[in-house]
Amino acid sequence: MGKDYKFWKFMGALWICSSVVLYINSCSAQIPANRDQTSRGLKDFYQKYFSIGVAVSSKNLSGDEAKLIKKQFNSITAENAMKMSSLQPREGQFYWIEADSIINFGLNNNIKIRGHNLCWHEQTPDWIFQDKDGKEVSKVVLLQRLKEHITTVVNRYKGKVYAWDVVNEAIDDNPSHYLRDSKWYKICGEDFIAKAFEFAHAADPDAKLYYNDYNTERPEKRDRIYRLLKDLKEKGIPIDGIGLQAHWSLQEPTEKQLTAAIEKYSSLGLKIQFTEVDMSIYPWEKERRERKSGESDQFTLALQRKQAAQYAMVFKVFRKFKAAITNVTFWNISDRYTWLDEYPVKGRKNYPLLFDTNLEPKKAYWEVINFKNK
Ligand code: GLA
Repeated sequence: MGKDYKFWKFMGALWICSSVVLYINSCSAQIPANRDQTSRGLKDFYQKYFSIGVAVSSKNLSGDEAKLIKKQFNSITAENAMKMSSLQPREGQFYWIEADSIINFGLNNNIKIRGHNLCWHEQTPDWIFQDKDGKEVSKVVLLQRLKEHITTVVNRYKGKVYAWDVVNEAIDDNPSHYLRDSKWYKICGEDFIAKAFEFAHAADPDAKLYYNDYNTERPEKRDRIYRLLKDLKEKGIPIDGIGLQAHWSLQEPTEKQLTAAIEKYSSLGLKIQFTEVDMSIYPWEKERRERKSGESDQFTLALQRKQAAQYAMVFKVFRKFKAAITNVTFWNISDRYTWLDEYPVKGRKNYPLLFDTNLEPKKAYWEVINFKNK
């Protein structure tokens, strides 16, 4: 009996031990080593740094993309729905349905909303520059129309949109010019920029107001943008920050360029938001073109690694400058859809984001949440 008892006691202990070992193994099989992806998203990893946003359309607000947005992001921007041609395609006729659905998604899910944008040279309806006979309107008329547009839009989303891109891309692409020769500039001179900020501030004094542009780390463009921002500040125009679009590539910016740009803009006492982050796997091109025959668009392992390293570098710099940076927003959710699939090379696939076409995290994602990158 004593012998039997000891034997069964031993077998019982063995069973308990092996069950514990099996249980631990099954848990760790679901959690890749060093990858705490259980319930945390980018927004949680960066909670003590800045909010993490994404550009969306109303199509993204249900199904697997909506699930991903809620897990990973705590800020959203309308990809197109709040641009002038979407909101007021004809004078006085506002179309709110899509913008409202994005606002409601944000409010219902405790996600902050950036407004984009109030005054731009693209996606702007022709009617605003013309009278009823198709002739160019005067500066007074154009500024009045701009005021009406901004006042109506900012008022509608007062208290819901916490920050606006007020003026988008006013600096010329040509380094030897200062401001872009847009219709806004031709008709109003540079006044339209200051006026747009004043109209927005009058409509919602609590909203944070941003000037937004691209190639902001290239020294020649950086210095022209700096000149504009300094001028606005000196005139007492209500501007809170600069939006650096961050449509980047594996080639640029360098760490040095990114650091210099952040230091220069923030020296004006302005906040910085990275408003449209993506990392093209191709070098930057501006002109649209057809894809050449034989031009590869494969996302090779070498490209995946380079992209992960570039993302690691820029997020390391972001963390370093967390005192100046208040938001980092990605331009689209995943490689399933990116505006870069069509631009500038028609039909060429690109892979610029942190999630792949199945919405799974890419190599770049793990680098972005690897805070050991110093
Ligand atoms: C610019 C605009 C964005 C968007 C991108 C391309 O950066 O600011 O709204 O249109 O181009 O998608």
